[in-house]
Amino acid sequence: MSLLDLIVLNRRTATDARAGVSVPELADACVVKTCLREVQVTTRAVFDQGDVPAGSSGAGDLYLGADAYGFLLRLASGLESEIAGETEIFGQIKQCWRDYELASPENARQLRPWMQRLLQETKEIRSEYIVGLGSATYGSLTRRLLGGRPEGTTLLLGAGQLAATVLPYLDCADLRIYNRSPVRTAEMLAAARGRDSSYKTTVLEPTLEAELAAWREARDVVICIPADAERDPARVAAWRESAAARGGRILHLGIMGASGTAWEGVPRLATLEELFGMRDAQAEQRDALLARARRACLGKAQLAKLDDADGSRAGTSNHGWEDLAVFQSLGA
Ligand SMILES: NC(=O)c1ccc[n+]([C@@H]2O[C@H](COP(=O)([O-])OP(=O)(O)OC[C@H]3O[C@@H](n4cnc5c(N)ncnc54)[C@H](OP(=O)(O)O)[C@@H]3O)[C@@H](O)[C@H]2O)c1
Repeated sequence: MSLLDLIVLNRRTATDARAGVSVPELADACVVKTCLREVQVTTRAVFDQGDVPAGSSGAGDLYLGADAYGFLLRLASGLESEIAGETEIFGQIKQCWRDYELASPENARQLRPWMQRLLQETKEIRSEYIVGLGSATYGSLTRRLLGGRPEGTTLLLGAGQLAATVLPYLDCADLRIYNRSPVRTAEMLAAARGRDSSYKTTVLEPTLEAELAAWREARDVVICIPADAERDPARVAAWRESAAARGGRILHLGIMGASGTAWEGVPRLATLEELFGMRDAQAEQRDALLARARRACLGKAQLAKLDDADGSRAGTSNHGWEDLAVFQSLGA
């Protein structure tokens, strides 16, 4: 498949939903959904058959050919994420692609060379520019917001993707984990790497009583589940009752800010807003490296345009960085 036939639709679901914009889905596209966006990767043939309402690109961005490939490179490298350079998105894209290959083998066959190239080139960009960025992941920022190495008991709510990301960074002596589905907690712990196994870890019973008891005892609480209008008032009451006095913090990563929620006015609460604020404060030196990573994505997309035929690369050693000057002067 020619690169010219690659099409990517990018919808920022959070802002579109707030603006009341519906997000049409193309049949047979490979869809990558994150908490911020929905990206559909497809071919021109599928797109042309699709029932995309006129003007729907107003609900997002439409990329074609080399621009589509460049966008996917930035996305997979974490350069389009709220925390630029974060790694979770790469795993999400790989998983979505695996699912798509199983569900739509015929369309996947068309896209495969470009997706394989994408995964390979993302690894190259990550290892060259992003591994050296230093830590600005949800986990590392969480640890910093909790004041380094948390003392006493830390309660972690959730066992989904975000909780799994944060878990290795919670190097507190006594960790308690509460999740609605204990099976998922067991899976998260089984997959956990990087957390010192000598720390005490307790999985709580999935009852409201067990959760609230932990709220009263914990020094710090890290929330990796969405806001819940039903349960949150009881959580807030338990925190106010005793835990707040211990001087720890609540870090709620399921909400952008507390305004209008049960968490409004809760002492020692931080949300994604504070976490992103901390990220911004340390952003300057990262910016230079990220700019280089973005230029690398652009360069690789330009090379892809030259290698066009089917997505296979002309050879990784053929194109050095010095070649980019040539593309720029060619106006490619
Ligand atoms: N993933 C990210 O990169 C990211 C970044 C920023 C913010 N967030 C936010 O963090 C939260 C979790 O995201 P995630 O990516 O970890 O999602 P996920 O993988 O789907 O996991 C969702 C987690 O939330 C729990 N949960 C969902 N609804 C619940 C409810 N009504 N009551 C109690 N528990 C509930 C789930 O419990 P079960 O296992 O029992 O279903 C699971 O532990 C979301 O609010 C998301 O918007 C995620």
